[in-house]
Amino acid sequence: MIKNIIEFKNVSKHFAEHPVLHDINFEVQNGEFLTLLGPSGCGKTTLLRMISGFEEPNSGSVFIDGKDVQGLPPHLRQVNTVFQSYALFPHMNVFENVAFGLRSRGIGRDEIEQRVNEALRMVKLDSYRHRKPHQLSGGQQQRVAIARAVVNKPLVLLLDEPLSSLDYRLRKNMQIELKQLQQQLGITFIFVTHDQEEALSMSDRVVVMQDGYIEQIGTPREIYEEPNTLQVAKFIGEANIFEANILEANQKQLVIEVEDKQFTLKNRKGFTQDDKICVVIRPEDLQVWGQSEVDDTSNMFPGMVEQVIYKGATVDLMVRLSSGKRLAAAQFFNEDDEKLDYSLGERVWVHWFPGWEVLLRNDA
Ligand SMILES: Nc1ncnc2c1ncn2[C@@H]1O[C@H](COP(=O)(O)OP(=O)(O)OP(=O)(O)O)[C@@H](O)[C@H]1O
Ligand SMILES: [Mg+2]
Repeated sequence: MIKNIIEFKNVSKHFAEHPVLHDINFEVQNGEFLTLLGPSGCGKTTLLRMISGFEEPNSGSVFIDGKDVQGLPPHLRQVNTVFQSYALFPHMNVFENVAFGLRSRGIGRDEIEQRVNEALRMVKLDSYRHRKPHQLSGGQQQRVAIARAVVNKPLVLLLDEPLSSLDYRLRKNMQIELKQLQQQLGITFIFVTHDQEEALSMSDRVVVMQDGYIEQIGTPREIYEEPNTLQVAKFIGEANIFEANILEANQKQLVIEVEDKQFTLKNRKGFTQDDKICVVIRPEDLQVWGQSEVDDTSNMFPGMVEQVIYKGATVDLMVRLSSGKRLAAAQFFNEDDEKLDYSLGERVWVHWFPGWEVLLRNDA
């Protein structure tokens, strides 16, 4: 078996002149848990449908297991899909729902028995085999749908927002179960969600999509810590974004002005003085100091605490700078650190850990 189980090469798709996907290129490695993440309408389902064979690209090629699958009908693609609405057959019990695809392919009784049992064990539903769908919870029904898909031993399992109709707690549990199941099966999963937390916590790699383009592909850590574009930075997690003026630029260093203060930073991306850039700082990379706690405030912003939200592991603050800008800052608890009781209206200094910022071209 080859390393890349799925490959997209220069794939574009339009519906009646309306472009939906533009020059899509990416590979999915065998055994990988890859997530497509992006807002509604960005083309996630369309992309999956080109893998499963329910849509064909207008240009470019899709490869499955090294073979160009142009014109290959869905049932010959060794790909199965689990949908948000799991659409089980209501009159069939759990066993028959899972066995359905195998029966229609004419597989023998003993093999069906053995494979369905194995699939049900995998999703921990072996003792529910005689129940009808209406006698199951939403999460159990979704597990039947997953068993029905994996029983065919697909090369790739496509999951199109499979958890979005479940309540919060069930969804969290199913995230863990799905991830375990994927590791157990060793099957490649391509998972679709528009929930960024879900994407970060489950995936080996995430494909961030926007308006039919791939904005970035990377590990959860890469897309969170090193977003390529402002779009990605805004879409993944919370971000404080400052417009910055470049005062001086050479190959090594930048001197920038942010909110009337000057900072000297490494010029890792080779910006020049003419570039328009933004500084992106995550809430957890900001420190908020009380007035009496600091001496040198030359690279700190003055502000006022507007909101204090106790979160257990952190205290989340909203701070209004004197310029009017609002910042989100997450302060971690530390047993030795007494300064965590901020009061509303308190005057503070805000500071970021130099080097933890991300500098991005201002393409907004
Ligand atoms: N069969 C079709 N005919 C015409 N337009 C379509 C068709 N299928 C999808 N589209 C359009 O293509 C775009 C992408 O749709 P798609 O379903 O792939 O988005 P999505 O990212 O899955 O969104 P969601 O998160 O809401 O499921 C949308 O603008 C949609 O209206
Ligand atoms: Mg969709």
